[in-house]
Amino acid sequence: MRKIQVFDTTLRDGEQTPGVNLNFEEKLQIATQLERLGVDIIEAGFPASSEGDFRAVKTIADTIKESSVTGLARSVKKEIDAAWDALKGGVEPRLHVFIATSPIHMKHKLRMTEEEVMENAVESVKYAKTMFPHVQWSAEDACRSDLDFLVRLIEKVIDAGAEVINLPDTVGYITQEEIRHRFRYIKENVPNIDKAILSTHCHDDLGMAVANSLAAIEAGADQVEGTINGIGERAGNASLEEIAVALRIRNDFYQAETGLQLNEIKRTSNLVSKLTGMPVPNNKAVVGDNAFAHESGIHQDGVLKETSTYEIITPDLVGVSSNRLVLGKLSGRHAFKEKIESLGYKATDEQLNKAFKAFKDLADKKREITDEDIFALMSEQKAGD
Ligand code: KIV
Ligand code: ZN
Repeated sequence: MRKIQVFDTTLRDGEQTPGVNLNFEEKLQIATQLERLGVDIIEAGFPASSEGDFRAVKTIADTIKESSVTGLARSVKKEIDAAWDALKGGVEPRLHVFIATSPIHMKHKLRMTEEEVMENAVESVKYAKTMFPHVQWSAEDACRSDLDFLVRLIEKVIDAGAEVINLPDTVGYITQEEIRHRFRYIKENVPNIDKAILSTHCHDDLGMAVANSLAAIEAGADQVEGTINGIGERAGNASLEEIAVALRIRNDFYQAETGLQLNEIKRTSNLVSKLTGMPVPNNKAVVGDNAFAHESGIHQDGVLKETSTYEIITPDLVGVSSNRLVLGKLSGRHAFKEKIESLGYKATDEQLNKAFKAFKDLADKKREITDEDIFALMSEQKAGD
């Protein structure tokens, strides 16, 4: 089974979520949980961006022992120096340096030619290698960049010492077919590509970040980047928990897996949601409150007979204690009987029929029936007997 490196950027790209601002203690708490989750690389922040971020990255690098800690820098010596000062105390100091490579970004943002970008990228990787044992280089907006320019550029930055080449879909624009083509093209055309690994980093503007990340893995990416709960700039980043679980559940197809402790997923998701103030939608895959809840009678009956009828992920795989049968107007007799028995009631067939009818009448008026509703309903039944 191919091992996919997990690069978590919850503390850097995730913190770019509008309205999110983590303080020093909160960042450290999240980093410690990411380490427990088994993340290979934690991107702790952007050391040159502020004194606060510098201090947080430094403390995380000095504290975390089981994951490699990295920080972001533009292709600017001063930023690479700041990153080194923040990261040098870590177990495996690693720099993440980037420059934009798409025609739109080069023309309007950088106001640089392809040649200038190439020279700058090579210089910054060479400079970083005078300090850092590990350097990751990213081509910002790679998925809208000219492929042959990328091929020439990647060959040069690998020669300069980059050992991870990240090809972000910065604006969440690409499709699965296109990203597969891009990764395969790079693998087939960059002559020294065996000296580096390819990484995928997808944004979710068209709701395709997870699908695109998995497509890149299919096409040869050995590292995947994303955030917990998919938080991040605009519509967010790829949700790492979804990718890791998809690789586990469909390893027959992907033939690849991460080293994540999947049973730490729910705890990590809860912590990130609490500290960032970003609620997880109920219907979010893997970590949403409804991810293991069943409401319709047909589904409840199936799950009570055999969970695999309607559950492809067991809740305990991701650290959720059990599935939930939600009692509502679509619930059937089977689920209702299980529920009253779990609350300690024993009913004859006749009592059950009466109680079930009373339950259905109530469920027509109320969205979800709670345990308290059942207690009230059962004592009314007893009084009426
Ligand atoms: O989305 C992006 O392009 C980035 C880079 C800085 C790697 O986050
Ligand atoms: Zn990004």
